[in-house]
Amino acid sequence: MLLKLMNAKKTLEIGVFTGYSLLTTALALPHDGQEGKLKMEFDFVFVDADKPNYINYHEQAIKLVKVGGVIAYDNTLWYGSVVSNEEEVPERLRASQKPIIELNKYLASDPRIEIAQISIGDGVTLCRRVL
Ligand SMILES: C[S@@+](CC[C@H](N)C(=O)[O-])C[C@H]1O[C@@H](n2cnc3c(N)ncnc32)[C@H](O)[C@@H]1O
Repeated sequence: MLLKLMNAKKTLEIGVFTGYSLLTTALALPHDGQEGKLKMEFDFVFVDADKPNYINYHEQAIKLVKVGGVIAYDNTLWYGSVVSNEEEVPERLRASQKPIIELNKYLASDPRIEIAQISIGDGVTLCRRVL
């Protein structure tokens, strides 16, 4: 629905596993839409890869998405652990807890974007490029 509202035509995904989100994206694109060739200006970038690299991906994605385009980050609530003390966080989640907290702070203070954190699933942060 988001992609249709944006009339997105050019999209990029970082972090593909089963291809579920990629397929969902592809199904929302118009017939002349395109997934993925680099060196183009993207309307929408979806990031769902290794969490400790999210800030690095952000610095790349901000160059690739057009002004007015959207970068979406998955898992920005990290199973609720973003508001937990480290010792309360299950072992399997621990390595990405701090990187996600750092990402959330980084995005909140980035003047190039305006953000909305959506509490669906495990949290998705939408970043609309404004500069
Ligand atoms: C949670 S899965 C993504 C699921 C995806 N939304 C889907 O529907 O297929 C995370 C993916 O990120 C990939 N990944 C991990 N580290 C990566 C890296 N350094 N560069 C690119 N992809 C990476 C993993 O291999 C895995 O496929």
